[in-house]
Amino acid sequence: GLPRITVVGSLNMDLVSYVSHHPEPGETMTSNGFAVSPGGKGANQAIACAKLSRERTVDKEGKPIPPTSQPTAHVAMAGAVGDDAHGKALQANLAAHGVDISGIQTAPTGVPSGVAVIIVDEPTGQNRIIFSPGANYQIDTTKSASLVPQGTQLLILQLEIPLDQVLRALKEARAAGVPVLLNPAPAPATEEARAKLEAAFAVAAGSGEKGLAHLVLNETETAALVPELKVQDLDTAAGLSRAASYFLAQGVENIVMTLGGRGVYYATAAEAGKEVVGELLPPETVKQVVDTTGAGDTFAGQYALEAVYATAAGKPFDCAAAVRKSNRAAAVTVQRRGAQDSIPWRDEVA
Ligand code: RIB
Ligand code: NA
Repeated sequence: GLPRITVVGSLNMDLVSYVSHHPEPGETMTSNGFAVSPGGKGANQAIACAKLSRERTVDKEGKPIPPTSQPTAHVAMAGAVGDDAHGKALQANLAAHGVDISGIQTAPTGVPSGVAVIIVDEPTGQNRIIFSPGANYQIDTTKSASLVPQGTQLLILQLEIPLDQVLRALKEARAAGVPVLLNPAPAPATEEARAKLEAAFAVAAGSGEKGLAHLVLNETETAALVPELKVQDLDTAAGLSRAASYFLAQGVENIVMTLGGRGVYYATAAEAGKEVVGELLPPETVKQVVDTTGAGDTFAGQYALEAVYATAAGKPFDCAAAVRKSNRAAAVTVQRRGAQDSIPWRDEVA
Protein backbone atom coordinates (compact mmCIF):
# COMPACT_ATOMS: atom_id res chain seq x y z
CA GLY A 1 0.00 0.00 0.00
CA LEU A 2 0.85 3.68 -0.08
CA PRO A 3 2.99 5.29 2.64
CA ARG A 4 0.61 6.72 5.25
CA ILE A 5 0.89 10.16 6.84
CA THR A 6 -1.39 11.48 9.58
CA VAL A 7 -1.65 15.15 10.54
CA VAL A 8 -3.16 16.06 13.91
CA GLY A 9 -3.69 19.80 14.01
CA SER A 10 -5.57 22.97 13.17
CA LEU A 11 -7.94 24.09 10.45
CA ASN A 12 -8.54 27.83 9.93
CA MET A 13 -10.34 30.00 7.46
CA ASP A 14 -7.88 32.73 6.45
CA LEU A 15 -9.25 36.26 6.03
CA VAL A 16 -6.53 38.00 4.07
CA SER A 17 -6.04 41.67 3.27
CA TYR A 18 -3.33 42.71 0.81
CA VAL A 19 -1.88 46.12 1.70
CA SER A 20 0.81 48.51 0.47
CA HIS A 21 2.03 49.08 4.06
CA HIS A 22 1.03 47.97 7.54
CA PRO A 23 -1.44 50.37 9.23
CA GLU A 24 -0.22 52.67 12.03
CA PRO A 25 -2.06 52.76 15.37
CA GLY A 26 -5.37 54.57 14.84
CA GLU A 27 -5.04 54.48 11.07
CA THR A 28 -7.88 53.24 8.86
CA MET A 29 -6.58 52.22 5.49
CA THR A 30 -8.03 50.71 2.34
CA SER A 31 -6.64 47.36 1.21
CA ASN A 32 -5.62 46.56 -2.34
CA GLY A 33 -7.52 43.28 -2.18
CA PHE A 34 -9.19 40.79 0.14
CA ALA A 35 -9.63 37.02 0.04
CA VAL A 36 -11.19 34.30 2.17
CA SER A 37 -9.25 31.08 1.67
CA PRO A 38 -8.57 27.79 3.46
CA GLY A 39 -5.64 27.68 5.89
CA GLY A 40 -4.52 26.57 9.33
CA LYS A 41 -1.09 25.02 9.84
CA GLY A 42 -2.44 21.49 10.29
CA ALA A 43 -4.74 21.54 7.27
CA ASN A 44 -2.09 23.32 5.19
CA GLN A 45 0.41 20.57 5.96
CA ALA A 46 -2.15 17.87 5.14
CA ILE A 47 -2.94 19.61 1.83
CA ALA A 48 0.79 19.97 1.16
CA CYS A 49 1.30 16.22 1.62
CA ALA A 50 -1.72 15.53 -0.58
CA LYS A 51 -0.94 17.95 -3.44
CA LEU A 52 2.78 17.22 -3.46
CA SER A 53 2.08 13.50 -3.75
CA ARG A 54 -0.35 13.91 -6.67
CA GLU A 55 -0.36 15.24 -10.17
CA ARG A 56 -2.62 18.22 -10.69
CA THR A 57 -6.25 17.02 -10.64
CA VAL A 58 -7.90 20.27 -11.72
CA ASP A 59 -6.84 22.73 -14.40
CA LYS A 60 -6.20 26.44 -13.75
CA GLU A 61 -9.95 27.14 -14.12
CA GLY A 62 -10.83 24.42 -11.60
CA LYS A 63 -12.05 21.90 -14.20
CA PRO A 64 -11.21 18.29 -13.24
CA ILE A 65 -8.52 16.66 -15.36
CA PRO A 66 -7.86 12.92 -15.34
CA PRO A 67 -4.55 12.14 -13.61
CA THR A 68 -2.07 10.02 -15.57
CA SER A 69 -0.51 8.53 -12.45
CA GLN A 70 -1.47 7.38 -8.97
CA PRO A 71 -0.88 9.39 -5.78
CA THR A 72 2.30 8.40 -3.96
CA ALA A 73 1.02 8.80 -0.38
CA HIS A 74 -2.14 8.42 1.71
CA VAL A 75 -2.91 11.40 3.96
CA ALA A 76 -5.32 11.54 6.92
CA MET A 77 -6.14 14.46 9.20
CA ALA A 78 -7.54 14.76 12.72
CA GLY A 79 -8.74 18.03 14.23
CA ALA A 80 -11.85 20.06 14.92
CA VAL A 81 -13.99 22.63 13.08
CA GLY A 82 -17.10 24.57 14.03
CA ASP A 83 -20.61 23.66 12.93
CA ASP A 84 -20.55 26.49 10.39
CA ALA A 85 -19.87 27.41 6.76
CA HIS A 86 -16.12 27.76 7.33
CA GLY A 87 -15.94 24.31 8.86
CA LYS A 88 -17.76 22.76 5.92
CA ALA A 89 -15.59 24.54 3.37
CA LEU A 90 -12.37 23.55 5.15
CA GLN A 91 -13.36 19.89 5.23
CA ALA A 92 -14.55 19.98 1.62
CA ASN A 93 -11.19 21.32 0.43
CA LEU A 94 -9.30 18.55 2.24
CA ALA A 95 -11.62 15.88 0.86
CA ALA A 96 -11.35 17.32 -2.67
CA HIS A 97 -7.59 16.79 -2.43
CA GLY A 98 -7.99 13.18 -1.34
CA VAL A 99 -7.33 13.69 2.39
CA ASP A 100 -9.12 11.25 4.71
CA ILE A 101 -11.18 13.55 6.98
CA SER A 102 -12.82 10.89 9.15
CA GLY A 103 -10.72 12.13 12.11
CA ILE A 104 -12.14 15.65 11.95
CA GLN A 105 -14.71 16.49 14.62
CA THR A 106 -17.40 19.14 14.60
CA ALA A 107 -17.42 21.22 17.80
CA PRO A 108 -20.71 21.98 19.62
CA THR A 109 -22.97 24.66 18.10
CA GLY A 110 -21.78 28.14 18.97
CA VAL A 111 -18.07 27.33 18.81
CA PRO A 112 -16.81 28.89 15.56
CA SER A 113 -14.25 27.38 13.24
CA GLY A 114 -10.72 28.68 13.67
CA VAL A 115 -9.96 31.89 11.84
CA ALA A 116 -6.72 33.66 10.94
CA VAL A 117 -6.73 37.37 10.13
CA ILE A 118 -3.79 37.90 7.82
CA ILE A 119 -2.25 41.10 6.52
CA VAL A 120 0.10 40.69 3.58
CA ASP A 121 2.46 43.55 2.82
CA GLU A 122 2.49 43.55 -0.99
CA PRO A 123 5.93 45.10 -1.59
CA THR A 124 7.64 42.32 0.38
CA GLY A 125 5.06 39.50 0.41
CA GLN A 126 5.59 39.17 4.19
CA ASN A 127 2.57 38.47 6.40
CA ARG A 128 1.35 39.23 9.90
CA ILE A 129 -1.10 36.71 11.31
CA ILE A 130 -3.60 36.78 14.18
CA PHE A 131 -4.87 33.29 14.95
CA SER A 132 -8.23 32.85 16.72
CA PRO A 133 -8.42 29.16 17.70
CA GLY A 134 -12.19 28.61 18.10
CA ALA A 135 -12.97 24.93 17.51
CA ASN A 136 -9.26 24.05 17.28
CA TYR A 137 -9.06 24.43 21.06
CA GLN A 138 -12.15 22.25 21.59
CA ILE A 139 -10.97 18.88 20.32
CA ASP A 140 -13.09 16.47 22.33
CA THR A 141 -10.87 13.67 23.57
CA THR A 142 -13.86 11.56 24.60
CA LYS A 143 -14.91 11.33 20.95
CA SER A 144 -11.84 9.73 19.48
CA ALA A 145 -10.19 6.88 21.27
CA SER A 146 -7.13 7.39 19.12
CA LEU A 147 -5.72 10.41 17.29
CA VAL A 148 -3.23 8.32 15.34
CA PRO A 149 -4.90 5.79 13.02
CA GLN A 150 -3.38 2.35 12.67
CA GLY A 151 -0.93 2.02 9.83
CA THR A 152 0.33 5.61 10.17
CA GLN A 153 4.02 5.75 9.19
CA LEU A 154 4.63 9.38 10.08
CA LEU A 155 2.69 11.69 12.41
CA ILE A 156 2.86 15.45 11.84
CA LEU A 157 2.10 17.89 14.67
CA GLN A 158 2.07 21.68 15.10
CA LEU A 159 1.02 23.88 18.04
CA GLU A 160 -2.33 25.39 16.96
CA ILE A 161 -4.26 22.85 19.04
CA PRO A 162 -4.01 22.59 22.86
CA LEU A 163 -0.57 21.45 23.99
CA ASP A 164 -2.12 18.58 25.96
CA GLN A 165 -3.59 17.20 22.73
CA VAL A 166 -0.22 17.52 21.00
CA LEU A 167 1.41 15.61 23.83
CA ARG A 168 -1.35 12.98 23.79
CA ALA A 169 -0.80 12.37 20.06
CA LEU A 170 2.97 12.31 20.60
CA LYS A 171 2.65 9.65 23.31
CA GLU A 172 0.27 7.59 21.21
CA ALA A 173 2.69 7.68 18.29
CA ARG A 174 5.61 6.76 20.50
CA ALA A 175 3.70 3.80 21.99
CA ALA A 176 2.92 2.58 18.46
CA GLY A 177 6.49 3.14 17.23
CA VAL A 178 5.37 5.82 14.76
CA PRO A 179 7.99 8.52 13.99
CA VAL A 180 6.90 12.12 14.58
CA LEU A 181 7.60 15.38 12.74
CA LEU A 182 6.98 18.32 15.05
CA ASN A 183 6.65 21.85 13.68
CA PRO A 184 6.40 23.85 16.94
CA ALA A 185 4.44 26.74 15.42
CA PRO A 186 3.32 29.11 16.72
CA ALA A 187 6.13 29.16 19.29
CA PRO A 188 5.09 28.25 22.85
CA ALA A 189 4.08 31.49 24.58
CA THR A 190 4.87 30.59 28.20
CA GLU A 191 7.81 29.05 30.01
CA GLU A 192 5.45 26.39 31.34
CA ALA A 193 4.45 25.37 27.81
CA ARG A 194 8.08 25.36 26.69
CA ALA A 195 9.10 23.09 29.55
CA LYS A 196 6.19 20.72 28.93
CA LEU A 197 7.05 20.44 25.27
CA GLU A 198 10.73 19.94 25.94
CA ALA A 199 9.96 17.15 28.38
CA ALA A 200 8.07 15.44 25.59
CA PHE A 201 10.87 15.57 22.96
CA ALA A 202 13.38 13.98 24.83
CA VAL A 203 14.24 10.95 26.40
CA ALA A 204 16.92 10.36 28.96
CA ALA A 205 20.06 9.22 27.21
CA GLY A 206 20.45 5.49 27.37
CA SER A 207 16.79 4.74 28.02
CA GLY A 208 16.67 3.03 24.64
CA GLU A 209 13.56 4.94 23.65
CA LYS A 210 13.79 7.03 20.48
CA GLY A 211 13.41 10.79 20.59
CA LEU A 212 11.57 13.00 18.14
CA ALA A 213 12.40 11.97 14.54
CA HIS A 214 12.09 15.42 12.94
CA LEU A 215 11.95 18.92 14.38
CA VAL A 216 11.21 21.56 11.73
CA LEU A 217 11.11 25.15 12.94
CA ASN A 218 11.96 28.78 12.14
CA GLU A 219 14.17 31.30 13.96
CA THR A 220 11.49 32.63 16.31
CA GLU A 221 10.46 29.12 17.32
CA THR A 222 14.10 28.12 17.83
CA ALA A 223 14.71 31.11 20.09
CA ALA A 224 11.54 30.29 22.04
CA LEU A 225 12.64 26.70 22.66
CA VAL A 226 16.36 27.01 23.37
CA PRO A 227 17.01 28.52 26.82
CA GLU A 228 18.83 31.85 26.71
CA LEU A 229 19.00 31.92 22.92
CA LYS A 230 18.03 35.11 21.09
CA VAL A 231 16.90 35.30 17.48
CA GLN A 232 20.03 37.40 16.64
CA ASP A 233 22.25 34.58 17.91
CA LEU A 234 21.11 32.59 14.89
CA ASP A 235 22.87 35.10 12.59
CA THR A 236 26.14 33.31 13.29
CA ALA A 237 27.28 29.79 12.45
CA ALA A 238 28.18 29.32 16.12
CA GLY A 239 24.66 30.24 17.22
CA LEU A 240 23.07 27.85 14.74
CA SER A 241 25.37 25.04 15.80
CA ARG A 242 24.62 25.73 19.46
CA ALA A 243 20.86 25.61 18.91
CA ALA A 244 21.08 22.41 16.87
CA SER A 245 23.33 20.77 19.48
CA TYR A 246 20.79 21.61 22.15
CA PHE A 247 18.03 19.73 20.29
CA LEU A 248 20.30 16.81 19.37
CA ALA A 249 21.12 16.43 23.07
CA GLN A 250 17.35 16.17 23.69
CA GLY A 251 17.19 13.12 21.44
CA VAL A 252 15.91 14.83 18.27
CA GLU A 253 17.17 12.85 15.26
CA ASN A 254 16.88 15.47 12.51
CA ILE A 255 16.74 19.17 13.23
CA VAL A 256 15.80 21.58 10.44
CA MET A 257 15.75 25.36 10.93
CA THR A 258 14.17 27.43 8.18
CA LEU A 259 15.87 30.83 8.08
CA GLY A 260 13.81 32.66 5.44
CA GLY A 261 16.03 34.46 2.94
CA ARG A 262 19.18 32.90 4.42
CA GLY A 263 18.19 29.34 3.57
CA VAL A 264 17.82 26.27 5.75
CA TYR A 265 20.13 24.88 8.40
CA TYR A 266 19.98 21.20 9.26
CA ALA A 267 21.79 18.80 11.57
CA THR A 268 21.35 15.09 12.26
CA ALA A 269 21.82 12.71 15.17
CA ALA A 270 25.03 11.35 13.61
CA GLU A 271 26.66 14.64 14.62
CA ALA A 272 25.44 14.69 18.23
CA GLY A 273 28.23 15.49 20.68
CA LYS A 274 30.50 17.02 18.01
CA GLU A 275 31.78 20.51 18.56
CA VAL A 276 30.31 21.95 15.35
CA VAL A 277 27.18 20.46 13.86
CA GLY A 278 25.01 21.16 10.86
CA GLU A 279 25.08 22.66 7.40
CA LEU A 280 23.47 25.79 5.95
CA LEU A 281 21.86 25.19 2.55
CA PRO A 282 21.17 28.28 0.41
CA PRO A 283 17.60 29.40 -0.39
CA GLU A 284 15.99 29.01 -3.78
CA THR A 285 15.99 32.19 -5.81
CA VAL A 286 12.50 33.36 -6.73
CA LYS A 287 11.37 36.05 -9.18
CA GLN A 288 9.02 37.80 -6.80
CA VAL A 289 7.80 37.00 -3.31
CA VAL A 290 4.03 37.54 -3.52
CA ASP A 291 2.73 35.99 -0.28
CA THR A 292 4.81 33.82 2.05
CA THR A 293 1.68 32.37 3.73
CA GLY A 294 1.84 28.57 3.65
CA ALA A 295 5.54 28.38 2.73
CA GLY A 296 6.59 26.79 6.02
CA ASP A 297 3.71 24.32 5.76
CA THR A 298 4.67 23.42 2.18
CA PHE A 299 8.24 22.83 3.33
CA ALA A 300 7.02 20.55 6.15
CA GLY A 301 4.73 18.63 3.79
CA GLN A 302 7.38 17.93 1.15
CA TYR A 303 9.89 17.02 3.86
CA ALA A 304 7.37 14.61 5.44
CA LEU A 305 6.84 12.93 2.07
CA GLU A 306 10.59 12.45 1.60
CA ALA A 307 10.72 10.85 5.06
CA VAL A 308 7.91 8.35 4.38
CA TYR A 309 9.22 7.54 0.92
CA ALA A 310 12.55 6.58 2.51
CA THR A 311 10.77 4.44 5.12
CA ALA A 312 8.66 2.73 2.45
CA ALA A 313 11.74 2.02 0.31
CA GLY A 314 13.69 0.75 3.31
CA LYS A 315 16.35 3.39 2.63
CA PRO A 316 18.11 5.65 5.11
CA PHE A 317 16.64 9.16 5.26
CA ASP A 318 18.72 11.75 3.38
CA CYS A 319 18.03 14.96 5.31
CA ALA A 320 20.00 17.23 2.97
CA ALA A 321 18.17 15.95 -0.12
CA ALA A 322 14.82 16.32 1.67
CA VAL A 323 15.65 19.91 2.63
CA ARG A 324 16.64 20.78 -0.96
CA LYS A 325 13.41 19.38 -2.40
CA SER A 326 11.29 21.03 0.31
CA ASN A 327 12.98 24.36 -0.44
CA ARG A 328 11.95 24.03 -4.07
CA ALA A 329 8.34 23.28 -3.15
CA ALA A 330 8.15 26.22 -0.72
CA ALA A 331 9.64 28.54 -3.37
CA VAL A 332 6.55 27.91 -5.52
CA THR A 333 4.21 28.71 -2.61
CA VAL A 334 5.73 32.14 -1.91
CA GLN A 335 5.09 33.22 -5.50
CA ARG A 336 1.32 32.79 -5.18
CA ARG A 337 -1.42 34.23 -3.02
CA GLY A 338 -3.08 32.27 -0.22
CA ALA A 339 -2.11 29.25 1.87
CA GLN A 340 -3.60 25.96 0.63
CA ASP A 341 -4.41 27.48 -2.77
CA SER A 342 -0.76 28.38 -3.32
CA ILE A 343 0.74 24.95 -2.52
CA PRO A 344 2.08 23.26 -5.68
CA TRP A 345 1.10 19.88 -7.09
CA ARG A 346 3.78 17.20 -7.42
CA ASP A 347 4.33 17.96 -11.10
CA GLU A 348 5.00 21.64 -10.35
CA VAL A 349 8.09 20.93 -8.24
CA ALA A 350 11.14 20.39 -10.40
O1 RIB B 1 1.17 28.73 8.42
C1 RIB B 1 0.21 29.54 7.80
C2 RIB B 1 -1.08 29.48 8.53
O2 RIB B 1 -0.92 30.02 9.81
C3 RIB B 1 -2.21 30.24 7.90
O3 RIB B 1 -2.91 29.51 6.93
C4 RIB B 1 -3.06 30.66 9.09
O4 RIB B 1 -4.26 29.96 9.17
C5 RIB B 1 -2.18 30.43 10.31
O5 RIB B 1 -2.63 29.40 11.08
NA1 NA C 1 1.45 31.69 -0.53
